[in-house]
Amino acid sequence: MTIKTVPTTPYSDQKPGTSGLRKKVPVFQQKNYAENFIQSIFDSLEGFEGQTLVIGGDGRFYNREVIQLAIKMAAANGFGRVLVGRGGILSTPAASNVIRKNKAFGGIVLSASHNPGGPTEDFGIKYNIGNGGPAPEKITDAIFARTKSIDSYKIADAADVNLDLEGTHEIEGMTVTVIDPVADYAELMEQLFDFPAIRKLIAGGFRIVFDAMSAVTGPYAKEILENRLGAAKGSVLNFMPLPDFGGHHPDPNLVHARALYETMMAADAPDFGAASDGDGDRNLIIGKGIFVTPSDSLAMLAANAHLAPGYAKGLAGIARSMPTSGAADRVAAKLGIGIYETPTGWKFFGNLLDAGLATICGEESAGTGSNHVREKDGLWAVLLWLNILAVRKESVLAIVEQHWATYGRNYYSRHDYEEVDTDAANGLMANLRDQLATLPGKTFGALTVETSDDFAYNDPVDHSVSKNQGIRILFVGGSRVVFRLSGTGTSGATLRVYIERFEPDAARHGIDTQEALADLIAVADQIAGIKARTGRNEPTVIT
Ligand code: G6P
Ligand code: ZN
Repeated sequence: MTIKTVPTTPYSDQKPGTSGLRKKVPVFQQKNYAENFIQSIFDSLEGFEGQTLVIGGDGRFYNREVIQLAIKMAAANGFGRVLVGRGGILSTPAASNVIRKNKAFGGIVLSASHNPGGPTEDFGIKYNIGNGGPAPEKITDAIFARTKSIDSYKIADAADVNLDLEGTHEIEGMTVTVIDPVADYAELMEQLFDFPAIRKLIAGGFRIVFDAMSAVTGPYAKEILENRLGAAKGSVLNFMPLPDFGGHHPDPNLVHARALYETMMAADAPDFGAASDGDGDRNLIIGKGIFVTPSDSLAMLAANAHLAPGYAKGLAGIARSMPTSGAADRVAAKLGIGIYETPTGWKFFGNLLDAGLATICGEESAGTGSNHVREKDGLWAVLLWLNILAVRKESVLAIVEQHWATYGRNYYSRHDYEEVDTDAANGLMANLRDQLATLPGKTFGALTVETSDDFAYNDPVDHSVSKNQGIRILFVGGSRVVFRLSGTGTSGATLRVYIERFEPDAARHGIDTQEALADLIAVADQIAGIKARTGRNEPTVIT
């Protein structure tokens, strides 16, 4: 075996987005495209000689090919050990756990998360650092800079590793161990949650359904929910990870997990329904007859987390992304703990978690997690809900209604306009920025703008500043509309409009969400000119 240095030429489009580099598979299949990016990652890091690298992915189309490349390139670049999930599988939170548990230097996670998979669909490569979390911007910026000047990459001229058998191999002095992707993660969940209490709940007739969406959480959910917690066989739906997710979007929202929603709204619905996304870091929570918005779920989990053994000592603080509703802020205020508002992207929580400022974090984009790993974690949210339900012995609906009665309800919805023309979307945002100075004081019907800005984040730990993170228009009384462009799409632009209204009066907590937000939705269009600029009459997705 030898190490080859292969000449290459740069690509100009390898800028990592909200969560790594995401492109269509045919883009990744271009000559040296994946190789360039992986070498650029290694070239942007220092001190990994002899260290451990974790590699895994969500099983989507092209996963195995890039895993083989990454292993051979890690060997050629001087890593001492690679840990790779059997079958090339590691959910994103499980990868984060493996990195932390093994004190790895970092990890390469192959995923495009909730985006569809297949020969013409999406693929992605993300680098995680030694704390188990997504690389911060200073690293992703360095990687991007390197992709623009790279002229060669290094690769071991070795045979492919058999990914389907657990065991250890050697390539150029580097060991490659194929590990069970589920075991360590399941063990961590057993430490955090009261499994006997959940088992008892389920044995008492509490019915759950979990839709793995033909994505990575299938094997994890089968093992944990069915084997360890005793849920009836068949409680985990679509549990086989498929390279194309069965042709669906593995995105656990009310559009793509519609069947689950219908099941949970039926008269004979189970007690608890949940789903996770392509790589296992998102969650959807639906009780019998009630969808829990991700923003509400964060607040409710935070308010009840002390009921689970892993959080019995209470929380140090809560962090949420800026577009996430302020429901969690009310819980933090009541608990007398810190609340942190970060830009969109899990990577911004890493410093807060490492510094012990926050224990639980969440985003409106169906992400919730804690300091147990440095990624959001779909099954973790499901298990924390189950633990709370097992202790409180009340329905999801009862817990939600009591929460609103105590804290007030933050009516919340996100309207997405997908694959709109990039220039139109940029124009819309530019136009909003131009209006920022003149909006405060303006009145739209019963709504008066109090402040408006382009969100900037000053990281309290490393003092880095992230600007232009979304336009916020805040109205007198606490309602708000937020506009930002998605950083995870792979074609055109996706405009996200986040709409929120706080309602303290419990007598007014039963209104349909879109109805409760109707005036704000109309004002959002009036200010931003969504219809006129995008040519769209309605959003593609409403969550
Ligand atoms: C990924 C990130 C999240 C982020 C989400 C939405 O899932 O891990 O942290 O909230 O994308 O990002 P977007 O830029 O598409 O709104
Ligand atoms: Zn994901």
